[in-house]
Amino acid sequence: MIKGVLFDLDGVLTDTAKYHFESWKLIAQDLGYNLSIEDNERLKGVSRADSLDLIARWANTSISSEQKTSFLLKKNEHYLTLIKGLSEEDILPGVVSFLDLLDEHNCLKGVGSSSKNAPVILERIGLKHRFGVIVDGNQVSKTKPDPEVFLKGSKELGVAPADCLVVEDAPSGVTAAKSAGMKVLGIGSSENLVNADKTVNTLEGISWEDILSI
Ligand code: BG6
Ligand code: MG
Repeated sequence: MIKGVLFDLDGVLTDTAKYHFESWKLIAQDLGYNLSIEDNERLKGVSRADSLDLIARWANTSISSEQKTSFLLKKNEHYLTLIKGLSEEDILPGVVSFLDLLDEHNCLKGVGSSSKNAPVILERIGLKHRFGVIVDGNQVSKTKPDPEVFLKGSKELGVAPADCLVVEDAPSGVTAAKSAGMKVLGIGSSENLVNADKTVNTLEGISWEDILSI
């Protein structure tokens, strides 16, 4: 029985994935690498520092720790400029009615995100108050695909992992949730999110019966 739902943020509550991609493309260019959409799919859910390590590997180059610090700063500064104008209008379709549905069924709600910018984004899109628990990239030592973020979320919600549902758009996030022993509702294609228990294109039109069937 689902008693708690943990939401990923980027690409699930709001479409910031495109801004991460644009910012990483700049850094990849500096490293002489053309970052593809397929590459970006592998970066989703992965922490900022781990993402840079992956891009450097794909670019077949090694970077010093000073360069690393400056690339991470540049990436985040660009990203922060892109998300400056985020507002309630940027909440993805179906999210608010899904949160309402969970409230009607007394289901607890939390966020489990790899992003260190999660609190400011939730504030801007006006959804912060809808979650009892927010675990973000500032509070974990290992990010997705490690289950830490979701295990911490389930503990803080007071709901056993087996009674938690995770809503995710990234393969790394699906792996994290499954390793935590949770059910997963994937947002996106079933080919991309092979291990999700159910996959939908958006949260629009999801019913309580759909959730019970997971
Ligand atoms: C995840 C995103 O939610 O957060 C990744 O899917 C991103 O693309 C990661 O790298 C870390 O985000 P931030 O905001 O701390 O750089
Ligand atoms: Mg995501």
